[in-house]
Amino acid sequence: MVTIITGASDGIGAALARHLAASGGRLVLNARGRERLEALAATLPGSPVLVTGDVADPATAQALVNAARQHFGRIDTVVANAGYGLVRTIADTTPEEWQAILATNLLGTIHLVRAALPHLATQDLRDGYRGHVMLVSSALARRGRPEAGAYSATKAAQLSVAEALRVEVADQRIAVTSVHPVATATGFISAAEAHGGTWARGTSEPVQDPQVVARAMADAIARPRAEVWPHGLSRWALGLGTLWPTLFDGYFLRRMRRK
Ligand SMILES: NC(=O)c1ccc[n+]([C@@H]2O[C@H](COP(=O)([O-])OP(=O)(O)OC[C@H]3O[C@@H](n4cnc5c(N)ncnc54)[C@H](OP(=O)(O)O)[C@@H]3O)[C@@H](O)[C@H]2O)c1
Repeated sequence: MVTIITGASDGIGAALARHLAASGGRLVLNARGRERLEALAATLPGSPVLVTGDVADPATAQALVNAARQHFGRIDTVVANAGYGLVRTIADTTPEEWQAILATNLLGTIHLVRAALPHLATQDLRDGYRGHVMLVSSALARRGRPEAGAYSATKAAQLSVAEALRVEVADQRIAVTSVHPVATATGFISAAEAHGGTWARGTSEPVQDPQVVARAMADAIARPRAEVWPHGLSRWALGLGTLWPTLFDGYFLRRMRRK
């Protein structure tokens, strides 16, 4: 299976790359920085193809698709994983910050999908599918987080894209999966805090290992499904929150007041 992964040099993307490479997957890996990507590649079997570049640039998506076709002649799964967080109230998020986070988290996803779809649509079927699009969203797609409203909005937008796309490409036998991790022990929080602010986390909030998230993603790559919630309970809790929107307001308000 040939898999393209954006944001693969660290965190969830790197954990998925390790998992897939260990089971013989052929990989095309992306991040902006070359050094960490090369360090990861040196530890993986199967000589992954590396494509550096910012996912906010549509040329990066095209280069990833071209590299997969040139080296492997096929793309089974594209994983739009690259993204970052921002600790900011809605009132304090500047237009430039909105543009930057939308450009990476949302448009970065869309550029990859648009570059890949024409190729996925014309491939032969493999295990019942011509190809598979996997978008790494967040549990926050279902519940905007105070002081991370812009980030949450990008994750909710990815879910909307996945829901619409899944039906649009169903008859072409292209699978679409959105992934909804809870807090995961990666460099995500320190990267978010590098933009300023402190990412407050409640003591009762679950934190998962990136390998747990990667395993759930790899299972869904092998047997595509609509949504992946690596922390099962969060799906039901947030589902309840959609039926009862103020359910989580009190929890977040208490936490903000404490802070
Ligand atoms: N960790 C969590 O708590 C959590 C929870 C829910 C959802 N998620 C989602 O999971 C995804 C991965 O997060 P993570 O926790 O693995 O983050 P991470 O540990 O910070 O890793 C981010 C990876 O993406 C790359 N990257 C960042 N911006 C990029 C860009 N513009 N273009 C290309 N590559 C870029 C980074 O490398 P370079 O800096 O070299 O580019 C790095 O390889 C994100 O979409 C995030 O929203 C994370």
